[in-house]
Amino acid sequence: MKLVIATRNAHKLEEIHAIFDFQGLEVLSAFDFPEIPEVVEDADTFEGNAIKKAVEIAKATGCWSLADDSGLEVEALGGAPGVYSARYAGEPCSYEANNEKLLAELADKKDRSARFRTVIALSDPGGSAQTVSGECPGVIIDKQRGDHGFGYDPLFVPDGFSETFAELDPSVKNRISHRANALRKAHSEWAGLLQSL
Ligand code: IMP
Repeated sequence: MKLVIATRNAHKLEEIHAIFDFQGLEVLSAFDFPEIPEVVEDADTFEGNAIKKAVEIAKATGCWSLADDSGLEVEALGGAPGVYSARYAGEPCSYEANNEKLLAELADKKDRSARFRTVIALSDPGGSAQTVSGECPGVIIDKQRGDHGFGYDPLFVPDGFSETFAELDPSVKNRISHRANALRKAHSEWAGLLQSL
């Protein structure tokens, strides 16, 4: 049985591929279907975007499909940047500009609590979808630290640690991250289903 991962991000693909490594399951990706146009992520929730991507790719390929959507939710900003995390400071997307905007928005805020969140959707070929989500709580510090990772990593210190995601060894981030937590849930909820098809 074929499972198409609705992404052209090689790093995400590797992470998902490693966890859905079952006998009898052929894992493909959007790279294998270059004729299918990029899905426009215009929903206003992570769930909405993840479902939209999984359903559109499932219907276009006739295969089961898995998609994810992630971002940063900051308590003092009412959950922003949320689904707009990638383009918080506008287009073209820039991690540096997003981080500067986040620091400016939080300049007078005492509450620095935040969380990264990931939603993963699984769609059958007919477009019927279900989701799981994972999160990683932490705080936003007032100056960027560290060189690993991407996005908001230099500003985010996960609960229980004193280093930012960009300072921690990537293997630590990959164990505790929102994406890792969501993938573990996806595996425990859907492994049986995917193996039985
Ligand atoms: P995506 O849905 O995984 O592509 O994530 C959307 C945006 O959320 C990214 O462009 C980043 O700005 C932010 N983001 C998601 N996951 C992470 C992370 O693990 N570290 C830092 N930023 C992240």
